[in-house]
Amino acid sequence: MKKIDSFEEYQEQYEKSIENPEQFWSDIADTFNWKKKWEKILDWNFSEPNVNWFKGGKLNITENCLDRHLKTQPNKTAIIWEPNNPNDAHKTVTYKELHEEVNKTANALKNLGVNKGDRVCLYMPMSLELSYTVLACARIGAIHSVVFAGFSAKSLADRINDASCELLITADGFYRGKKYIDLKQIADEALEITPSIKHSLILKHSNMDVTMKQGRDLWFHEQVNYQSTECEATTMDAEDPLFILYTSGSTGTPKGVVHSTGGYMVYAEYSFRNVFQYEENDIYWCTADIGWITGHTYIVYGPLLAGATTVLFEGTPTYPNPGRFWEIVEKLKVNTFYTAPTAIRALQACEIENVTRYNLSSLKTLGSVGEPINEEAWQWYYKHIGKEKCALVDTWWQTETGGIMISPLAGITKEKPTFATYPLPGIQPVLVDEKGNIIEGNNVEGNLCIKFPWPSMIRTTWGDHERCKNTYFSTYKNMYFTGDGCKRDENGMYRITGRVDDVINVSGHRIGTAEVENAINSFEGVVESAVVGYPHDIKGQGIYAYIICEGNIENNETLSQLVRKHITTEIGALAKPDKIQVVSGLPKTRSGKIMRRILRKVAEGNFDSLGDTSTLLDPSVVNEIVEKRDLVG
Ligand code: PRX
Repeated sequence: MKKIDSFEEYQEQYEKSIENPEQFWSDIADTFNWKKKWEKILDWNFSEPNVNWFKGGKLNITENCLDRHLKTQPNKTAIIWEPNNPNDAHKTVTYKELHEEVNKTANALKNLGVNKGDRVCLYMPMSLELSYTVLACARIGAIHSVVFAGFSAKSLADRINDASCELLITADGFYRGKKYIDLKQIADEALEITPSIKHSLILKHSNMDVTMKQGRDLWFHEQVNYQSTECEATTMDAEDPLFILYTSGSTGTPKGVVHSTGGYMVYAEYSFRNVFQYEENDIYWCTADIGWITGHTYIVYGPLLAGATTVLFEGTPTYPNPGRFWEIVEKLKVNTFYTAPTAIRALQACEIENVTRYNLSSLKTLGSVGEPINEEAWQWYYKHIGKEKCALVDTWWQTETGGIMISPLAGITKEKPTFATYPLPGIQPVLVDEKGNIIEGNNVEGNLCIKFPWPSMIRTTWGDHERCKNTYFSTYKNMYFTGDGCKRDENGMYRITGRVDDVINVSGHRIGTAEVENAINSFEGVVESAVVGYPHDIKGQGIYAYIICEGNIENNETLSQLVRKHITTEIGALAKPDKIQVVSGLPKTRSGKIMRRILRKVAEGNFDSLGDTSTLLDPSVVNEIVEKRDLVG
């Protein structure tokens, strides 16, 4: 696939993609291997919603990630695995080896009775085997559901149950920085309440002792090692689901976002190649975890579709010291580096010697994803990591969009700090006011919607299509609503301002306030709670929880610790509130609705502009909350 290589060409391609989207995407889709060509490029409506790309087309995505590269570059490195501990050696896997490993794993899954359409849950460390199992599922048409290995047993069980997964693939355990995560033990706890699971495959990763449950638990290596290195790729319809990935929203439990096979494939490679301006021998590193969408699209599928060398890092930015990222960049001669603003801010706060002692001259392109990048972080990244010579792409997208939607193309689009700049070809963003009117012109601000389908968009939410419709397609008629606020400047460049719903973005992770509130409310002695986000220097946003307890309990450190521990067990450490304030009441309207606006202002420390509180049932609670704000634990 040829990539766009000038801004003029971008503009031409963009025009073409709007005037004739079918032709535009069909030309791109033609560059892939299809077992049978599609009958219809696109049919869609956003009211049901029902979106079909490349209908009638038959393919297997792994033939495009693996088999087609075997002819041209079998010995090229596909994946470089870098371990958590810098004293352990990194490993490289060629395309030929990857093909063999994926096939062996796929045969093992088949042997365990996994069929096309079955759901397989992956709860694993950032290991090579995680990439093998993702692709092995795709090889046989099983739908993978990767659950980030930082989630609790309960969150894992909820996700397994929602999709009725038959198989869980997990590991004995792993180190994240200094901390040992006893994955098998957490998984065992989850499996006590997951009736659909028939087997659990256990990867030997840390070599710690674990207890195997007879009849259920099997060693990964014992099931995989003896398998044949050939496995025919199952024929999939373009619209068959490829994977489910759970994400938090403003209401209820996390939703299983479903992505399709054909459209996702086309967009994953197209966006990867163009945004990062990938060149043949580039070493590309995205620091995300495969448990999130960024890892799916830009560690696994996008780079492998493009035949690139992708780095898979098990560790953290600050272990054993804050120079770890840059040490790896120097060692592996990384050309493209893609990370989250929260990591940049954390490293920016450390001594600059952690950066300057490494040679970063291999870098050409830097990327940012997951949350708005503030100007200081942008400048630091550009200056100290990019040495003012690298392109810096601020990429806006979501789990639901499957791929990058608004972003500069590296070195082609003129950057503007904190702006995601322009939409990729094929993407039609609009800003909408509260009433649903499209806001035309420039220098405007509104809610960000997308008015035309793109190939990698969400198709449904697993098991509940109505929920998909209500969440994304009902707020504004005939538009996909992103949940983000956005500005368009005088040149038509987009800047994402953050969520406009009750979702908090903590360190680039999306956390629904309702989910945290439900978890807090299930703690003994808690009557009610309200959770809001507030600005946090490193995390972007922190979690501020107001709780009402039974009896006359005042704020105290022990209570806060216990609540935090409870959240870690209910959801995972990433949802732990940073601040907890015990209150005797919450500001509610006469109809019983919590006025979060006020709670947000208090959490921000912004007491002077609390706005009109006269409509509250009991305005005095606001005074109490403000007065006791210093007592947060
Ligand atoms: O609010 C936006 C923010 O992250 C949300 C999507 O989160 P998630 O589905 O977890 O996917 C994250 C990785 C793609 C968006 O609704 N977000 C993501 N990227 C940016 C961003 N906000 C501002 N600028 C970005 N570049």
